[in-house]
Amino acid sequence: MRGKTVLITGSTGGIGKETARGLAALGARVILVGRDPVRARRAADELGAGGGQVEALAADMTRLGEMAALAARVAERCDRLDVLINNVGANPPRRTLTEDGVETTFAAHVLAPFTLTRLLLPLLVGRVVNITGGIPGGPIDLDNLQAERRYLGWTFAQYNHTKTMQMAMSLRFAEEVGGTGVTVNVAYPGHGHTPMNQSLKAAGFPYLYRPIVPLLGLVAPRFFADLGKPARSSIHLASSAEVEGVSGAYFSMKCRRTAWPESALNRRNQDTIWALCENLTREVIGRL
Ligand SMILES: NC(=O)c1ccc[n+]([C@@H]2O[C@H](COP(=O)([O-])OP(=O)(O)OC[C@H]3O[C@@H](n4cnc5c(N)ncnc54)[C@H](OP(=O)(O)O)[C@@H]3O)[C@@H](O)[C@H]2O)c1
Repeated sequence: MRGKTVLITGSTGGIGKETARGLAALGARVILVGRDPVRARRAADELGAGGGQVEALAADMTRLGEMAALAARVAERCDRLDVLINNVGANPPRRTLTEDGVETTFAAHVLAPFTLTRLLLPLLVGRVVNITGGIPGGPIDLDNLQAERRYLGWTFAQYNHTKTMQMAMSLRFAEEVGGTGVTVNVAYPGHGHTPMNQSLKAAGFPYLYRPIVPLLGLVAPRFFADLGKPARSSIHLASSAEVEGVSGAYFSMKCRRTAWPESALNRRNQDTIWALCENLTREVIGRL
C-alpha cells in the first residue's frame, strides 16, 4: 500500500481504527475521520507512533454539510484518493432525526456512503469499501425506508434494514461508476466489542430482556476484544491484489466472495433508494 492514500470514516475507535492500523502497517497514508477532533488527533498520534503516516480530520458522517466540508479538506490535502472505506455505523435506541431531518440509521448507513463517495469521486482513483453489519438480507420495505411507520431499536430492525439498503445502494453505485477505474464493494466485518456495542444500555430494551445486557457486557470483552478479526475483510478489500478490478461484490468476514441478498439485487429497491439519496443530497452535491 506504499504510495496509496486511504480515508476511513468512523476510524477513531472500534473496527475502523483497527482497519486503519492494519493499512498503515502495510505502508498506506491513512486519513482517520471521527466526530471528535481530540479523539481523532489522539488516534492518529497513537497509530502514527509506529512509523505509519496517519492523519486526522473531524466530521460527523450523519451531517451533509460536514461531509461536504470534509471532502473539501481532503481535496486540499490530496490530489488523489486510492481507497475510501465508509465504515461509520449507528443504532440509536429510539428513532431520531439528523439536523438535515433524515432518520439517523439511514443517514449513517445509506446516505453517508452515497454522499461522501459522490463528493470524493473527483479524487477517487481506486476502491470504495462499504461496511455492512448486523443480519442484513431481509426484505427492504419501501414504505418504511426511514422507519417512518415503525422503529424497534432494541431488535436492530432498522439497523439490519438500512445495512441491507446499503447493499442495494452499493450495487447501484458500482454500476454507476463502471468503467471509470473506481470499484465499489461491500465487506461484512463480524462481531467486535467496540464503542458501539459497549454503549448498549439496558434501558433501551424491553423489561424482559434487560438482565441480558449486563451479561453481554461481561461475556463480550472475553470473546470479541480482538478487533483485528473484524477488520480483516475491510483490509482485504482495500489492499489485496486478488480483488483488483473486482466491483459490485460482497465479501464475508472470512474475506470470501459471497451471494448478495435478493432484496439488494432487486432493481426497484435499488432505484427507489438511489432516488431518495439523490433527492436528499441535491443541494449539497449541487453546490460543488
Ligand atoms: N461492532 C460490531 O460488532 C460490528 C459487527 C458488524 C458490523 N459492524 C459495522 O462495522 C462498522 C464499525 O463498527 P464499530 O462497532 O467499530 O463502530 P463504533 O464503535 O460505533 O465506531 C467507531 C468510531 O466511529 C466514530 N463515529 C461514530 N459515529 C460517527 C459519525 N456519525 N461520524 C463520524 N465518526 C463517527 C466514533 O468516533 P467518535 O466518537 O470520535 O466520532 C467511534 O470511535 C459499522 O458500520 C458497524 O455497523 C460492527
